[in-house]
Amino acid sequence: MALRRIGVLTGGGDAPGLNPAIRALVWRAAEAGIETVGIYDGWRGLMDGYADETMPLDVERVRYWDLDGGTHLGSSRTNPFNHKVGDKKVDASDEVLRNIAKLGLDALCPIGGEDTLGVAAGLAKKGAPVVGIPKTIDKDLGGTDYTLGFDTSMRTCVDIIERSRTPAGSHHWVQVVEVMGRHAGHLALWSGLAGGAFITLIPEAPFEIEKVLKLLDERLSRGKNDRKLPRYAVVVVAEGAAPSGGHEVTLEQKVDAFGHARLGGIGAWLAEQIRQKTPWDSRAVALGHPQRGGVPSPIDRIMGHLFGSAAVEACIKGAWGKMVSARGVAPACQISLVNLDEATKGLNLVDVKRHYNAERYQASRNVLG
Ligand code: F6P
Repeated sequence: MALRRIGVLTGGGDAPGLNPAIRALVWRAAEAGIETVGIYDGWRGLMDGYADETMPLDVERVRYWDLDGGTHLGSSRTNPFNHKVGDKKVDASDEVLRNIAKLGLDALCPIGGEDTLGVAAGLAKKGAPVVGIPKTIDKDLGGTDYTLGFDTSMRTCVDIIERSRTPAGSHHWVQVVEVMGRHAGHLALWSGLAGGAFITLIPEAPFEIEKVLKLLDERLSRGKNDRKLPRYAVVVVAEGAAPSGGHEVTLEQKVDAFGHARLGGIGAWLAEQIRQKTPWDSRAVALGHPQRGGVPSPIDRIMGHLFGSAAVEACIKGAWGKMVSARGVAPACQISLVNLDEATKGLNLVDVKRHYNAERYQASRNVLG
């Protein structure tokens, strides 16, 4: 059957690269004579009461979307398989299937991370014609080496980390920079390396707080005794990192429809430990949501182009239940299709053995292995 209408939605945390991907999808679809419809606010946009309103997308409407961060379609963390109605949680996935049919969609391309695409995998099992596109600044989704938003976000983190070095150096303190990364430390590890952090703490490798404090004290003490040496340090910590035997620091206990609590506060806790247990002063900054903001980098524009175009080609092939995936280094990577099911089964975590020095808490210098 020839495709006539593709729907596209964006779910979960926003990320730079979503709008370029939508633009590419619309352009590739138009080239094949297929109409595109934007669904508002993630999976919520396909629930009763929301699905009546959609955004028709055409080449002219999305012409400049490659330049825009965030998502013009809006997003939500709605989980149709675990939907709150009054005090109860219900499985509303059939409602979504009905609305896909009601909107006359022959295909649906959700753009998201493990949660949004986990829903897509569940719907595919129930017969929905879906093809997923990977996105998350955390880069922790399985089945792909790239997820939209990572590159732009990493650049933003590097910018702040390197800016932190001058005040920290002038005032001789330890600057702690908390970046996002719930399960995975890709963002922390690589922005820490590029920005010149002395210590980087990631969720994959629980840390010994006493050891971290000792390393910091040694470095700043050396700087005190020899003015040629630095008397400051920058510590980058992923929000999901935790001390050995401890657990992640959360901003509130409440969990979302996917069972995730809002993380945050590990940076402030570390700075407090440094102030209390070493002779050194410390400041903490949590980068928060602005690290997901801003204009997409060239890599995120290019990857949006590749993923958006590939998703349409997958729809034309009828490759339902698949996700477009990149293997190798962006942008000259291999684009292929993987099963949504497999991509959402396990997370892509930092390969600690290969890339992390768990003694010095920083990127490994043992590069050839
Ligand atoms: O999944 C991406 C992410 O940026 C995580 O790193 C972070 O824990 C979460 O989103 C924050 O979510 P919210 O926007 O709901 O605060």
